[in-house]
Amino acid sequence: MARPLGKIAYDNQGRVVIVTGVAGGIGWAIAEEFAESGATVYGLDIGTPTASHSRIVVLRVDVGDRHQVEAAVHQITEQAGGIDVVVNNAAVQPVASFRPLHEIEPELLDQMLRINVGGYNWVARSALPQMIRQQSGVIVNLASAHAWRSSRDVPGYGPTKAANRMQAVQWALDYARAGIRVVSVSPGAIDTPLVRASLEQQGGEGALANRHPLGRLGKPQEIAAAVMWLSSSGASFVTATDLEVDGGLGGLGSFADPYVMPERYR
Ligand SMILES: NC(=O)c1ccc[n+]([C@@H]2O[C@H](COP(=O)([O-])OP(=O)(O)OC[C@H]3O[C@@H](n4cnc5c(N)ncnc54)[C@H](O)[C@@H]3O)[C@@H](O)[C@H]2O)c1
Repeated sequence: MARPLGKIAYDNQGRVVIVTGVAGGIGWAIAEEFAESGATVYGLDIGTPTASHSRIVVLRVDVGDRHQVEAAVHQITEQAGGIDVVVNNAAVQPVASFRPLHEIEPELLDQMLRINVGGYNWVARSALPQMIRQQSGVIVNLASAHAWRSSRDVPGYGPTKAANRMQAVQWALDYARAGIRVVSVSPGAIDTPLVRASLEQQGGEGALANRHPLGRLGKPQEIAAAVMWLSSSGASFVTATDLEVDGGLGGLGSFADPYVMPERYR
């Protein structure tokens, strides 16, 4: 008989949450968890989610464009009367960017800096004045396992994810006394369109899954669960830090023997 695993229930009634990249795998899962627990969610994306939810409003915004972000955050503040949580999640890792630095298209380096780093700056910068007025708020940056260590051929994407972790630390220090907490989450490989698009570049699904001690890719909901906790009052003494949600990936030293490939991936 399976043992009980424990259960958590969140109450986010009345909270206003902004999630970027809401049309993607992880962003939608985060938005949905917040909406299901009662929050009003504003999703910013250049695309449109395939699903819908009565408490998720999607605004067409390019997070790399400061003026679009400022206008959207202003609109949200006017409409909703406050901003309680910001989740910086929209980021890109084009398949063509899996190349060493001297071979990568300069435009792709620019694009990843503009969206992955610039976008996080603009969204946080636009929301902070309201959070300061409230003397409360939480910002969660989606970083990556690449914020801590790297693999071959990610000279554009990897460093942007390291920047996301340090953006969180920097903002956390600067706004701690204004009642604002800032943290980052570093996922391992999660089963989303972003990872599906580059499975070949990452050695195939079996090899990628097998690099995680838990022996599988993560699910978007498993990242959402971490964001929910970090944004909740349960994490009230947690700031200026990163939570790795990576199936143990970060703990496996590169000198360790690889795991035997499970039968299901052979
Ligand atoms: N999937 C993974 O394995 C993984 C691992 C580590 C970190 N992450 C991080 O998690 C976050 C989400 O990744 P994902 O796998 O869900 O990606 P995804 O590609 O599935 O979704 C990304 C979303 O961002 C949106 N977006 C792209 N450019 C935008 C822009 N300029 N303005 C607004 N929206 C834009 C896309 O339309 C899409 O909806 C990213 O920050 C990524 O770096 C993902």
